[in-house]
Amino acid sequence: MTNSETTMDKIVSLCKRRGFIYPSSEIYGGLNSCYDYGPLGSELKRSLKDFWWKSMTQAHTEIHGLDSSILMAPRIWEASGHLENFTDPLVDCKACKSRFRQDKLDGATTCPNCGGEFTAPRQFNLMFKTFMGPVEDAANVVYLRPETAQGIYVNYQNVMTTARAKLPFGIAQIGKAFRNEITPGNFTFRTREFEQMEMQYFVHPTQDEQTMLSWKEKRRAWYKKLNIQDERLQFHEHKGNELAHYAKSAFDIEYKFPFGWSELEGIHNRTDFDLKRHQEFSGKNLQYFDEATKDKFIPYIIETSAGCDRTILCILCDAFVEEPERIVLKLAPFIAPIQVAILPLVKKDGLPDISNDISKSLQKLYRVSRDDSGSIGKRYRRQDEIGTPFCITIDYQTKEDQTVTIRNRDTMTQDRISISQIQTYIEPSLTPPID
Ligand code: GAP
Repeated sequence: MTNSETTMDKIVSLCKRRGFIYPSSEIYGGLNSCYDYGPLGSELKRSLKDFWWKSMTQAHTEIHGLDSSILMAPRIWEASGHLENFTDPLVDCKACKSRFRQDKLDGATTCPNCGGEFTAPRQFNLMFKTFMGPVEDAANVVYLRPETAQGIYVNYQNVMTTARAKLPFGIAQIGKAFRNEITPGNFTFRTREFEQMEMQYFVHPTQDEQTMLSWKEKRRAWYKKLNIQDERLQFHEHKGNELAHYAKSAFDIEYKFPFGWSELEGIHNRTDFDLKRHQEFSGKNLQYFDEATKDKFIPYIIETSAGCDRTILCILCDAFVEEPERIVLKLAPFIAPIQVAILPLVKKDGLPDISNDISKSLQKLYRVSRDDSGSIGKRYRRQDEIGTPFCITIDYQTKEDQTVTIRNRDTMTQDRISISQIQTYIEPSLTPPID
């Protein structure tokens, strides 16, 4: 499937029109780079997070969940190196006052907007600062976390002890992260508030490279389960200056967005950097004791760090198809915000009652919507545009023989089946592929 005409304008417009994503604070003119997920967007996001969570914790008994706080002891950010190193080089145009990240200017030495001269670059720390308690002084500064990972590292011993975990084991967490990006943009791709889905895998130091290889493959395969076309995915290896201060090696999984190849997820070999630093700064012994060999050491960490909002954007761009007669979102059925639409042909003669009964039995298991306004053709188009994989139509024949038509979004073919067969018919497509 190719859809080279997909533009960000079309995606942004669909998101607004159908209630996936709205600009934040819209009635006040919006707030730069902040977005709200509407009824369909919040369902989609919730299903995505649920799928990631189960793919990590349910499919791997050695991976344990965590939900740590956003505000943490400020010393954590000293230990992690974020206070010192989590910076981008910032330049301003002296003439038009536009602001740029110097490393994203492709070597330009004058302002791309007006040709003006730049100020000297200064390192700008991306962490948001605030104060804990009523007194706004240096002693009360705290930071909004720029990655969820540190909450995992500082809980590594708690989790290991309470879950009686032995190497190798993982800790998974989904949560908000904040970065005061100099140049946010491309809709929800780069924002200042976003959600991460991060998993840290703790291994013996000799196992780092093979674990990295195995998680690279597993993570790429995960996007394929979401129906993302594999030819629109690629790995990008970080070299030299690109490597984050904590990483020995790093690969991005990139997706071919309408604005070009860009990072979806980072897979990093963080070695023992973080745990060693937390041991040093906290004064607590964070060594692992291997009962079999009696060895004591700091484990290495392989991190898989996915952006939830970026994955949603990727899913929407990848699923968006314009056909001559319709726009259709070819979402993986299990992730679709509405999985089954119930469409009574008319609003009389007992058809709404039958629709209600079918809806009630299905909504215990699936995300179901009723749509009884407009022609059937129009209703199909509406459901296609939001990615509903199955439309069930209740007509006069239903009253006679207890059958319905069930329409497939992608092929637009219809089957006539009995009401009692509906669940068996739809279940295989709507079951998340957790393995
Ligand atoms: N713990 C490692 C870490 O945070 P990262 O590569 O800086 O690594 C991981 O971020 C992922 O978080 C990215 O691949 C991306 O999906 C998401 N992400 C990072 N910055 C973002 C931003 N400003 N807006 C939206 N998502 C972002």
